Amino acid sequence: MKKLTVDLGSRSHEIHIACGLLAQSGPKLKEIGLGPKLVIITNPVVKGLYGDALRQGLTKDGFSVAVLEVADGEEQKTLETAGWLYTELGNIYAERQTPILALGGGVIGDLAGFVAATYMRGVPLVHIPTTLLAQVDSSIGGKVAVNHGRLKNNIGVFYQPRLVISDIGTLKTLPAKEFANGLAEVIKSAVIGDREFFGFLEANLDRIKAREEKVLEEIVFRSVRIKAEVVAKDETDLSLRNILNLGHTVGHAIETVSDFRIEHGAAVAIGMLAAAGISNRLGILEQGELDRLRKLIYGAGLPTEISGRRVKEIIQAMRHDKKIKGGQLRFVLPRAIGDVFVTDEVDISLAEQVLTG
Ligand SMILES: NC(=O)c1ccc[n+]([C@@H]2O[C@H](COP(=O)([O-])OP(=O)(O)OC[C@H]3O[C@@H](n4cnc5c(N)ncnc54)[C@H](O)[C@@H]3O)[C@@H](O)[C@H]2O)c1
Ligand SMILES: [Zn+2]
Repeated sequence: MKKLTVDLGSRSHEIHIACGLLAQSGPKLKEIGLGPKLVIITNPVVKGLYGDALRQGLTKDGFSVAVLEVADGEEQKTLETAGWLYTELGNIYAERQTPILALGGGVIGDLAGFVAATYMRGVPLVHIPTTLLAQVDSSIGGKVAVNHGRLKNNIGVFYQPRLVISDIGTLKTLPAKEFANGLAEVIKSAVIGDREFFGFLEANLDRIKAREEKVLEEIVFRSVRIKAEVVAKDETDLSLRNILNLGHTVGHAIETVSDFRIEHGAAVAIGMLAAAGISNRLGILEQGELDRLRKLIYGAGLPTEISGRRVKEIIQAMRHDKKIKGGQLRFVLPRAIGDVFVTDEVDISLAEQVLTG
């Protein structure tokens, strides 16, 4: 098993990564003093695949376990569903010491995390992420939120879990497009802070795509290590944590103009190449580095460009975003693979040129 600590003083916690960890959850929870009563929040898909086994295991280990199930999908990340969960928690007499286990992808992690942060001013939270994206990204860093109105993740808090249990075995059943979403964030991690890891991804792409457990364990571990280090230095996203948004400035605009029909990972992949392209045009990133990034993204099965007719709309969406943010559009640009910087000085017309190709 691989283990990491997110170093946050009194909010420090461990992340455990390996195959088969679901079955070992009971002893892990006991070790940090959680229980004997627990609530699992999950959805029908994940419950069918892993929830029942998790509950049975925990029951055998002496825990009393309730399971609350919300429907699958981003539409569930609302105050309304959170409200329903508060009521259900009350009905089963959940108390301030009753931990919530968030079993599922990022949607469940964000929603159950938000509920854990707010129910009775906060109950213990344990993330048990079952998508690659949730294992490398959303379960790390303590951001929990729901969507409200037309905005995503705009009602939320920072709330650190007590433990993250990432069972690599759960990634076997992940649909291909969800796996690709996670891979985009994995590539992002390497570009942000670990050049050697980027080389590892290049060298092991076939094994990654075949979902070999040992390789997946390695890539989750290395991605988490990068995010955990950044979060430990800037928990509440005031400065350094910005670098985790590599590829997301353009990525969000692409998601918006496609009405979220283009997957997050695909949008981020194109966004990362746009950022790299901008850096290259500014004379910062070498052509060879840009080519390597394009090759890896392509090899991972992610898109490398957007259709030309979309570019105008994307630029429009970024200008709109700029208005919301008060005139500045923040870009994370790679200097080289493994080294990025943040800038507010990118001219949108340069982004347009790069996207147009
Ligand atoms: N808190 C953060 O820092 C942070 C960071 C990035 C993303 N997010 C949020 O994460 C969410 C996206 O997360 P996601 O990509 O995991 O999507 P998701 O939670 O919707 O999961 C994707 C799909 O896979 C299914 N699924 C989950 N685990 C499975 C498994 N092991 N096998 C088969 N199917 C499985 C889910 O039921 C769902 O249908 C968004 O809401 C986003 O805002 C949060
Ligand atoms: Zn992302």
